[in-house]
Order: sequence, then C-alpha cells, then structure tokens
Amino acid sequence: MGALMKSAVIYDTSFGNTKKIAEVIARELGDGAAAVPVSDFEIASLDNIKLLVVGSPIIAWKPSERMAGFLAKLTPGHLIGKKAAAFDTRVKLFIHGDAVLKITEALKNAGAEMAANPEVFFVHGKQGPLYKGEIEKAVQWARLIKSIV
Ligand SMILES: Cc1cc2nc3c(=O)[nH]c(=O)nc-3n(C[C@H](O)[C@H](O)[C@H](O)COP(=O)(O)O)c2cc1C
Repeated sequence: MGALMKSAVIYDTSFGNTKKIAEVIARELGDGAAAVPVSDFEIASLDNIKLLVVGSPIIAWKPSERMAGFLAKLTPGHLIGKKAAAFDTRVKLFIHGDAVLKITEALKNAGAEMAANPEVFFVHGKQGPLYKGEIEKAVQWARLIKSIV
C-alpha cells in the first residue's frame, strides 16, 4: 500500500471472488488505486485517501465479521471530504440478506459522499465462481465511479 495512494478498494474474501472484483475495480480506477484486504488495512492510512470503495461477501445476511470490525472503527465525521462506494458478493437466492446497504450506511454515517449506487455481484454457490458477466459489470461500475470522482 503506497503512501501516496489516493484510492483504496478495501475488501474481505474467503474464496477469492470478492478479491477478484476488488482487483478489477482497482485496476480500472488506475492512478495508484490499490485493492487491500480489510485485515491489512490500517485505519490511519485513510487520511491519504480521497476515494474508498468497500466490498464484502454477505455472510449470514450481513457483511463479514472482519468487514463489520472495520466499519465499526469509523467514527462520525471520519470520512468527511471523501468519496465512497460499496459493493457485496452474494449467492442468487430469494432471501439473501444484504451487506452492501449496511456498508453504505456505515460509510454515510462517517460522512462520506457516495460516488455511485451500491452494486452487487453474484457467485455460484458459496465458493463461486462469479456469474458470467460480473467482471465486466465491475469494469463498468468502476468506470462510472472514475467519471464522477
Ligand atoms: C458462512 C457463510 C454464510 C453465507 N451467508 C450468505 C447469505 O446470508 N446471503 C448470501 O447471499 N450469501 C451468503 N453466503 C455466500 C457468500 O456471499 C459467498 O460465499 C461469497 O460471496 C463468496 O465471496 P468470496 O469468494 O470473496 O469469499 C454465505 C457464505 C458463507 C461461507
């Protein structure tokens, strides 16, 4: 994680699918953007970041524990002046719960301005792989974010 990093894609993953999406987004954002596992992300490095994209698998109807731990460290006002966007990965079920809205709420409560609508990416079963077309969807979503920030 470079000291000059201006955009970070912070993600959690168990089977690699959310990581794959995070890396595609970081690559599309370019300009030094990095995909960083949430367990490696130091909250102090938020100071240098202008755009924060946050993604988690849905685990039992909500963000993963590691992601929830990160979100809980964000204090009100922590993200004022920063732009943010959120995504989750999930299985295709009638009842799947949600991580992305909970992440969005936490980012907004910390003062971030949302740069794009929340996005969701589907995986086949718990381990994936991602549905066909989801990588391209991530590319398009990232381009949209890039055009706004
Ligand atoms: C313990 C566990 C609970 C899960 N609960 C949900 C859920 O409530 N809703 C859902 O849509 N997917 C659920 N999933 C599927 C995950 O969202 C899926 O494994 C994840 O998107 C894969 O991403 P990853 O490869 O980055 O770990 C669950 C997976 C695990 C392992």
